[in-house]
This record gives sequence, structure tokens and C-alpha cells, in this order.
Amino acid sequence: MDPSSVLLTDQTAIVTGGGDGIGKGIAITFAKFGANVVIADRNGAAGNAVAAQVRALGRKGLAITTEIRNRDQVRALFERTVAELGRVDILVNNVGGARPQEFMEMDEERWHRSIELNLVGMFNCTRAAVNAMVARGRGGVIINISSIEASRAGPLYSVYSACKAAMENFTKTAALELSRHNIRVNSIAPDMIDTPHTAPLHTPQAQAAIARVVPLGKMGRPEDVAGAAIYLASDLGAWVTGINIHVDGGTYAASGWIKQADSWTLFPDSTGVVDS
Ligand SMILES: NC(=O)c1ccc[n+]([C@@H]2O[C@H](COP(=O)([O-])OP(=O)(O)OC[C@H]3O[C@@H](n4cnc5c(N)ncnc54)[C@H](O)[C@@H]3O)[C@@H](O)[C@H]2O)c1
Repeated sequence: MDPSSVLLTDQTAIVTGGGDGIGKGIAITFAKFGANVVIADRNGAAGNAVAAQVRALGRKGLAITTEIRNRDQVRALFERTVAELGRVDILVNNVGGARPQEFMEMDEERWHRSIELNLVGMFNCTRAAVNAMVARGRGGVIINISSIEASRAGPLYSVYSACKAAMENFTKTAALELSRHNIRVNSIAPDMIDTPHTAPLHTPQAQAAIARVVPLGKMGRPEDVAGAAIYLASDLGAWVTGINIHVDGGTYAASGWIKQADSWTLFPDSTGVVDS
């Protein structure tokens, strides 16, 4: 294998929510690996700042202020990308999010709002990307940013967990349907990534708890998610479609096991270490 297969030279990528957090990490890492990047964020100032960082790396960087729940704005995003950069090779469906709430307290409007953000937005962008990729006839790559909550229960995150589980299953179905157009579709499931969103976890107490429940002992960085995205977007992942990659420091594998010094237990604060 040629080491250049890791590069994204002259590829055009659209990253939704690329103005901050994980999306920003992916956008800048893609630029470092050679891609031209469109930041599709509803926060125009944040998008512009990241686009400037992309340009400072010598790539084309364009911020197009977009609310991904609005289909007209998404259509305009893809039309402008094709008009200014000529093509769409990679779409990262990164926008998503959750507000913790007991299911018993959740009203129907809140349920629908979460589905709009986490699933309808992904539909709008995926549909537009597929149109552009099929019209060009050169294939493409779609990466959906899921969550560890897709594959485990999420108390207080019922609708978010349901949306991310749906996203992962959609990823597999879309991979099959779009394979005839050489469009690869995969997902990445992070846990606890250090972003402005998770800044409340910076307290010493939270960090100590994280050290116990995350096998690798700390939060992840946006760059850690970007590493998986580079694998999936580049020719390293040329024969990879319909999969989900956990980027979670081992949390999903731990599945309830907690670190106590150098040992593991299923029973927090007990002296009965079960295994080591
Ligand atoms: N941060 C984590 O620890 C974590 C863990 C697991 C999964 N995730 C997933 O990763 C993705 C990114 O999370 P994050 O914490 O980096 O995001 P974030 O909440 O920090 O938001 C990133 C950007 O998205 C933009 N944005 C939000 N809603 C938008 C919309 N409707 N249209 C356009 N832009 C919008 C914001 O302006 C912001 O710049 C989400 O799908 C999230 O569910 C995050």
C-alpha cells in the first residue's frame, strides 16, 4: 500500500457543524490531509473562523451558513459548493445533540425537535450529497457522527439514543443501496469528546470519575474522531462500507466495568475486586 492513500488531496468535503467541537476537528484535519473544506454551520462567525484556518493550511476553505434542518438552505449549500469548488466527494453529517430529560417529562414537541436535529438534518444533507455524487458519477463518501448512546441504554437521553441508533442502522442500509454508485457510507460512535459542549466535565471530580469509567483514562479529543474520519474518507477505507467505528477510549467494551487502581470491578466503592 502506498502511504499516499491516506491523503485527501484535492477532495472536497462538506462538514456540517464544522464551526466547533468534533466537526471543527474533522474540518481542520481534513485540510491538513489535503482536502478543500466547506464548513456548513448555522453559526456563521464560527464557520468563517474555521474556514480561515483551512485557508491558512493552503486549502480552499468556505463557510456557508446553513441550518441543516432547513431543506432549502441545504440545497443552496450543495449548489454553492458545486459552483465554487466543482464537486462534493465527502459529506460528514456531524450536527446532532441532546438535552438530558426524563422520558416521563418529555412532551411531543421536544421529541420531534430532537428528531429534526438528529435525523431530518442528516436526511436533508445525505439526500443532497447523493444527488451531487450520482450526478458527477465518481462515487463518494458519507460519514455519520453517531454516539456510544446508539448501542447502549441512555437514561435521560431516550430520544437522542433512539436517533443515533436509527442513524447507525440507516448507515448500513444506505451503504447497501448506494454501493452501486460507489458511495461508501459509514458511521463513527464517539464517547465523551472534549468540546465546548462537554466543558462542564473539566472539574477535578468529573475527571476522576472519567479516569475510572474510561479504560484509556481520559476524555477523547476532536482529533481522535478525525483520525477515524480520515481512515473512512481516504483510500485507506476504500473497501469499507456499512460499518460503525467506536472512538470511545474503550468505554463500550468496558460495558459497566469500572477501574479501581489497576484492577476492574463491577461494583463501585466496594472492596470486592472481581477480576484484575
Ligand atoms: N461531544 C461529545 O462528547 C460527543 C459524544 C458523542 C457523540 N457526539 C456527537 O458528535 C456530534 C458533534 O458534537 P459536538 O459536541 O462537537 O457538537 P456541538 O454541540 O459543539 O456543535 C458543533 C457545531 O454544530 C453547529 N450546529 C448545531 N446545530 C446546528 C444546526 N441545526 N445546523 C447547523 N449547524 C448546527 C453549532 O453551531 C456548532 O458550531 C454530534 O452529532 C454529537 O451528537 C458528541
